[in-house]
Amino acid sequence: MGAHEVTLVFEDGRVARFEANENDSVYLAALKNRVRILTDCLEGACATCKGVCTSGDYYLDEYEDEALSAAERERREVLTCRMHVTSDCVIEFPYASRIALKTAPTSIPCKVVEVDMVASAVARLVIAQDAESAPVSFIPGQYVHLSVPGTDAQRSYSFANKVGTNRHAFYVKILEQGAMSDYISKRAAPGDEITMTGPFGRFYLRPQERPSVMVAGGTGLAPMLSMLDTLVSPGEEGAPVRLLYGANRPEELFALDQLSGYREKGIDLEIELCVVETSSGWTGSSGHITSLLRDEILNGGNCEVYLCGPPPMIEAAEAALAARCVDPSRIHAEKFVAS
Ligand SMILES: Cc1cc2nc3c(=O)[nH]c(=O)nc-3n(C[C@H](O)[C@H](O)[C@H](O)COP(=O)(O)OP(=O)(O)OC[C@H]3O[C@@H](n4cnc5c(N)ncnc54)[C@H](O)[C@@H]3O)c2cc1C
Ligand code: FES
Repeated sequence: MGAHEVTLVFEDGRVARFEANENDSVYLAALKNRVRILTDCLEGACATCKGVCTSGDYYLDEYEDEALSAAERERREVLTCRMHVTSDCVIEFPYASRIALKTAPTSIPCKVVEVDMVASAVARLVIAQDAESAPVSFIPGQYVHLSVPGTDAQRSYSFANKVGTNRHAFYVKILEQGAMSDYISKRAAPGDEITMTGPFGRFYLRPQERPSVMVAGGTGLAPMLSMLDTLVSPGEEGAPVRLLYGANRPEELFALDQLSGYREKGIDLEIELCVVETSSGWTGSSGHITSLLRDEILNGGNCEVYLCGPPPMIEAAEAALAARCVDPSRIHAEKFVAS
């Protein structure tokens, strides 16, 4: 029996990742990797070890019905003391990582490779890990903390690249007098040292079992690019994807060439652009991006919805989706809140 990669995601967004042999329960495989999932009976009776498997295949040894009802099993809730993985899996737990993990999140030294302005007030930052270090492992959609060179501060940024490379791309909105904004716009230069800590996040690409609707506001497009880059990999393409991408003005939109190339690369992708203030020559929609969330693109509620951007956009989108009866468990959101 083979080994598979298991990713545990805790309530605070911290992640633990290890290889699990099918012979071992997930609980035991975690323990062998110094991760202590909460347990009590270890016999499938108490439900203390319960999580939700959001991706991957598995089977469960015998357990008591009181610990896991048929409805919970249907929702892919799992008793990790009885669970054996048969593919790579992602499992979420409803408690903080400090309960299960005694070590600090991994910090990786990196160097700045490129910094370019790619739109009005949006910079693309590319950093590289040491060539000999293993590429940081994350699920598309997740983020890291980046140190702000020359200060003690760190800020959160979502990966805009796919997994498996030593180079990582981020899109940073340049704000007036922000710590990272000042660094990027005034001082950043290739060769600068920058520390990346993580990955973190409960906002990540789910299996392509149903159509996806992605709603991105401003630099909220970054994690969607990571997801789309992953979906062009052989074996990953699947159900249709609809991307709604908005900003205040047309000149704030970025990565448009990259977006227009995904269809040629095999993704069944429809893109709708929307800006609040139009200018001459604009052919997209106008208004707030959330006004584009309509019944015809929501597949009767049977879709996976990804929301990323400023908090007011996410709140408006969540209200629009609730009014259209989309199951909240199918809505995944990342708010770009300031630290
Ligand atoms: C999970 C997550 C992922 C994120 N991913 C991204 C991403 O991919 N791209 C992205 O652009 N952003 C992202 N963000 C937001 C990002 O982390 C930063 O908050 C943002 O880039 C601002 O950082 P800054 O250092 O430039 O500004 P900060 O120094 O944090 O300042 C933010 C704002 O507050 C103002 N301010 C600062 N100090 C004061 C003060 N004393 N009084 C009044 N105002 C003040 C500043 O002028 C600025 O406008 C993400 C946030 C989260 C939580
Ligand atoms: S620890 Fe009791 S059911 Fe798993």
